[in-house]
Amino acid sequence: MTPPPAALRPLFRPHFRTDEVLAEIRECLEAGWAGAGFKTLEFERRWCEYTGLPHAHFLNSATAGLHVALAVLKEECGWQDGDEVITTPLTFVSTNHAILYCGLRPVFADVDEYLTLDPGDVERRITPRTRAVMFVGIGGNTGRLDEVQALCRERGLRLVLDASHMSGTRWRGRHVGSDVDAAVFSFHAVKNLPSSDGGVLCMAGAGLDARARRFSWMGIDRDTFSRLGRDGRYNWDYDVASVGYKYQGNSVSAALALVGLRYLDEDNAHRRELAAAYDAVLGDAVERVPQAPGCLSSRHLYQVQVDGRDQVIEALMAAGVQCGVHYRDNTLFPMYAGPLCPQARRASERVLSLPMHLRMTVDEAREIGGLLLALAR
Ligand SMILES: Cc1ncc(COP(=O)(O)O)c(C=O)c1O
Repeated sequence: MTPPPAALRPLFRPHFRTDEVLAEIRECLEAGWAGAGFKTLEFERRWCEYTGLPHAHFLNSATAGLHVALAVLKEECGWQDGDEVITTPLTFVSTNHAILYCGLRPVFADVDEYLTLDPGDVERRITPRTRAVMFVGIGGNTGRLDEVQALCRERGLRLVLDASHMSGTRWRGRHVGSDVDAAVFSFHAVKNLPSSDGGVLCMAGAGLDARARRFSWMGIDRDTFSRLGRDGRYNWDYDVASVGYKYQGNSVSAALALVGLRYLDEDNAHRRELAAAYDAVLGDAVERVPQAPGCLSSRHLYQVQVDGRDQVIEALMAAGVQCGVHYRDNTLFPMYAGPLCPQARRASERVLSLPMHLRMTVDEAREIGGLLLALAR
C-alpha cells in the first residue's frame, strides 16, 4: 500500500514493530499453525495477566464479540425476542447491530459531556422489558461507567461494555472490564492496539466463557487445535450442542496483537502526551471532550466540538489535516430512527476527531491544534 502523501497528516496511522511481528508470525509458519489456537491462546493468557480479567477469548472482531456476549447472556438469562437493551446512539453501528443480531430491541438513551451514556437518562429508559445496558467507552473515556454499573446492579440489569477503544484504559488504577458481565475490546486495523482485525471477549464467569467459546466455534464443544493430541493423534470426535458461528480469531492476527500488547502502556502514554499538547493549545477556546475523573484513558481519540463542523473539516483537509467524526447519531440511520437524544444529536453535528497516532510528535499536535484554533476563532 502507498503511504499517505507526506504533506497529509492522517487521522490514524497504525505503527507495527515489523521485525517483532514477523518473528511471531514466523513461529506460526514454522509450527505449521496459523489458525485459532497457538498464538490466540498465548494472547488470551497475556491479556488476562495484563488486564487482571479472569477470562479472554480472542475473536475475529469486536463486532463478533458483542454478538457473542449478548447471545450468551440471552440464553443464560432466558431473555425473550423483543426484550430491550439500553444503548447509545453515538457509536459505530456494530454496537447496535449486535443487539439486533440477537433479536433484542435497542432503546436509545442520551449521552452526557463525556459522550458516553448519561446514567440519569439510562434510568429513565428502563421498562419492565429492559434486560441489559450496552456502555461504549468512546475514545477510551470511562465517562460515568461507575454510575451505570451501580444502576445495573440495583435494577438487576446485565451490563456489556463495548470497550473497543479502551485497550489499556484504567479507572482508579484498575484496567476496565471488571464489574461488568462482558467487556469487548477491538484490535481492528486502526485501533490503539491494532492487528489485521481481531477482538477479545472477556466474560465475567467461567460458565459464560465456555458458552461463548462454543458459540464462536459453530456450537462445537472442542476446538480443532485442542483436538490435536500431544501423542500426534487427531481426535476427530466432537459434539455440537447448539448452533454457533465461525467467529474465532487466528494466530496471525494474534501475533500482531501480542507485539502491540508488549508496548501498549508506552504507546498509550504517548497518546496522552499528544492529547495534553492539544489541550494546552486549545485551552477553553474550543469545546474539548473532557476525560472522566480517575480515568487513565487509552486516548484512542482526541475529540472536540465546533460549530460549522463540516466546514472546519474541509478547511483542515485543505491544510493537509485529516479529521474524523465519531460518530453520526445512529438514530439518523432510517433503521434506527427513534426518539431524539438531544445531546447525541448535538454531538453528531459538531464533533470531530483530530489526528491521533504514534508516528505523530507533540510538536505536530501543537501545530494541528493551532490550525484548529485559528479556524474556530
Ligand atoms: C465503538 C465501536 N464498537 C465496535 C466496533 C467494532 O469493532 P471491530 O471492527 O473490531 O468489529 C468499533 C470499531 O470500529 C467501534 O469503534
